Amino acid sequence: MTKFVTVIGTRPQFVKAAAISRAFFKLYPDQATEIIIHTGQHYDPNMSQVFFDEMKIPKPDYNLSVGSKSHGEQTAEMISGIEKILLKEQPQGVILYGDTNSTLAGAIAASKLHFPVIHVEAGLRSFNKNMPEEINRILCDHVSTLLFSPTSTGVENLIREGFSRDNQPLYTSNNPKIWHCGDVMYDNTLFFSEYARNKVNLLEKLGIQDRNFILVTVHRPSNTDKPEYLTAIFKALLRLAFDHRQEILFPMHPRTSKLMEQNVAPEVREALKSEPGIYIIPPVSFLEITHLEDACQMVITDSGGVQKEAFFLKKPCIVLRKETEWVELVENGTCLLSGPDEMQIIAAWEKLSTDGDHSYPEIFGTGNAAEFIVRKMVEELG
Ligand code: UD1
Repeated sequence: MTKFVTVIGTRPQFVKAAAISRAFFKLYPDQATEIIIHTGQHYDPNMSQVFFDEMKIPKPDYNLSVGSKSHGEQTAEMISGIEKILLKEQPQGVILYGDTNSTLAGAIAASKLHFPVIHVEAGLRSFNKNMPEEINRILCDHVSTLLFSPTSTGVENLIREGFSRDNQPLYTSNNPKIWHCGDVMYDNTLFFSEYARNKVNLLEKLGIQDRNFILVTVHRPSNTDKPEYLTAIFKALLRLAFDHRQEILFPMHPRTSKLMEQNVAPEVREALKSEPGIYIIPPVSFLEITHLEDACQMVITDSGGVQKEAFFLKKPCIVLRKETEWVELVENGTCLLSGPDEMQIIAAWEKLSTDGDHSYPEIFGTGNAAEFIVRKMVEELG
């Protein structure tokens, strides 16, 4: 029996891990076992438990309950907890996802103990080291043994940083292997979108009749932590609602709610809350966000995952950042970068609303990325 330890802790990681757990269960029910560590980075029920319930992710074997802290304190506590578990479990590999502090903690704990690190969503770069995620993903990639990149751009980034496509049979963390495998998030969208379409009735509950609404999410520190940027985003939303009669549905991340209350001028905050066309709701589940992405007419977001899901569900998207690691979306013309700039957001909305036909080619694989990854992990480390 091959034993893998999975380290997860945040919303997007629960989503990605669901696809891999499904593939393990389908392909190797008796040959591989997965031990799950939840770091506790996200802990509110609607940021954590609801994903496990809806997506049928196995219950974590360990929960470190680390919670919200400064970067250093949070990552250090996770490293210490993960290290103890790895020493006890002695897995053949440690599976890590994306670019959060939970990813970095898993990478440091596992690589220092010489357990092979498997990085799902390797090679992505925004080339902006002010983002904590950029630091996390670079460090994780460079101590990984098996690297799975969702896009060809990701593979090219790795090669530029000294990785080789050769995939030598005798690999170690000094001689890692890289693959271009498609995106496990696309697997999930294909798997869950039909179900979400039929099962979720959030729009009815909110009284949103027509499907002409814009779905908005904001949570990046680069936007939330600068009052002038958060204010610019909110002012743009108010203009879209007031001047252009756009309905806006905004599931708000706890970081954003907190910083809105602390830092945004009361008149802007109150205007946002009282504008009848703007619906601010608590964070939603995976099935709910999938349904909203499917039902809306456009997405405005600073999330990496949501901008991709908009593309999977054939929706134009405005990204509230100056750069993105998902460059293919921008090259395709269906995703525009506005930054946190009121005028640019309105200009991007005008362009995407008036542009003619949009096309959404299959650049994230065909929906079997998780099975490819699980087969390779078991072949290589089993
Ligand atoms: C983290 C990841 C980010 C990912 C995002 C997905 C890092 C550095 N960032 O950002 O890459 O895109 O998750 O959501 O790892 N909070 C709650 N309840 C929770 C979790 C958080 O109220 O269950 C609040 C706390 O005030 C906390 C803040 O949200 O301080 C931020 O949480 P944190 O996990 O530090 O970062 P995210 O912004 O969620």
